[in-house]
Amino acid sequence: MDKPYKWTFWNREFSSPILLASGTAGFGIELMEQGFLSGAAAVISKATTLKPREGNPPPRIVETRFGLLNSIGLANPGVDEVLKTLLPQAACLPCPLIINVAGETVDDFPAVIERLEESPVPFGYEVNVSCPNVAAGGIAFGASPEIVERIASLVKRVSSRPFSVKLTPNEGSIVESAKAAEAGGADAVTICNTFLGMKMDWRTGRAPLKRNVGGYSSPALLPLTVARVFKTSEATKIPVLASGGVNRAEDILELLAAGAAMVQVGTWLMRRPDAARELREGMISLLKEPVRQ
Ligand SMILES: Cc1cc2nc3c(=O)[nH]c(=O)nc-3n(C[C@H](O)[C@H](O)[C@H](O)COP(=O)(O)O)c2cc1C
Repeated sequence: MDKPYKWTFWNREFSSPILLASGTAGFGIELMEQGFLSGAAAVISKATTLKPREGNPPPRIVETRFGLLNSIGLANPGVDEVLKTLLPQAACLPCPLIINVAGETVDDFPAVIERLEESPVPFGYEVNVSCPNVAAGGIAFGASPEIVERIASLVKRVSSRPFSVKLTPNEGSIVESAKAAEAGGADAVTICNTFLGMKMDWRTGRAPLKRNVGGYSSPALLPLTVARVFKTSEATKIPVLASGGVNRAEDILELLAAGAAMVQVGTWLMRRPDAARELREGMISLLKEPVRQ
């Protein structure tokens, strides 16, 4: 008989440690309709902001030799529409939904979450502090431990649900910002968002992305994620949700061994929409192998 593999996260037991990363699974509705959520512990939604956002002008996704560059610009219909249309549809997902929240000001984060509290659907939140703080001239919120702590404590005040703070690898110190998120009352940290990258067409002297630079995601990021997960989990007591570079079952086991509580899969879903099931099955068969010393 199969050994019951279990992962506990935010006081709930899951038969998989796999979370579908924000921006790569919508609100899970299309994946559910195709039967592709069976191996996922939870879906993390596309970013939700206070007001609707059109996002950046196209082209906003470009492939590189070893991965993807995106500058979507947090396109989303805004919290009112999310509450009215998307959350009622997501109520029948076969797994919990975590809502990813973004903002342009510190106060946007608690404001969006206060609205989301009206819905019974969210299991928790992921607060994306990798986005630019308009009041600070566009530097990411996550670059400043003081601002991260402030956002976490404001969110804690309005939220009855657990939340993770998703940090950026591009500015500041991930470990210091993770400690600040914990001090502010966060229930987890997500390590981490995409790395700043750019592609250049040397023939035209132009970048294929309209905004020139974007977020880079690639299986080559895995060792960078492993290092950051390891250092963060040593420095904090809250669960670390790993995000970045996963496309094989071994990658998930490696991140768990480095200290992750749960592991997110993002870009790989665009190639393999059934990735959660495939990776979970692969992982379980690896766990069944006899241990070699
Ligand atoms: C097309 C695309 C859109 C994304 N949108 C968001 C987003 O809205 N909010 C967010 O926090 N992260 C967003 N991300 C980052 C992913 O959630 C994830 O952290 C990152 O891609 C690294 O994981 P991966 O290597 O498994 O893709 C996006 C990534 C991609 C590729």
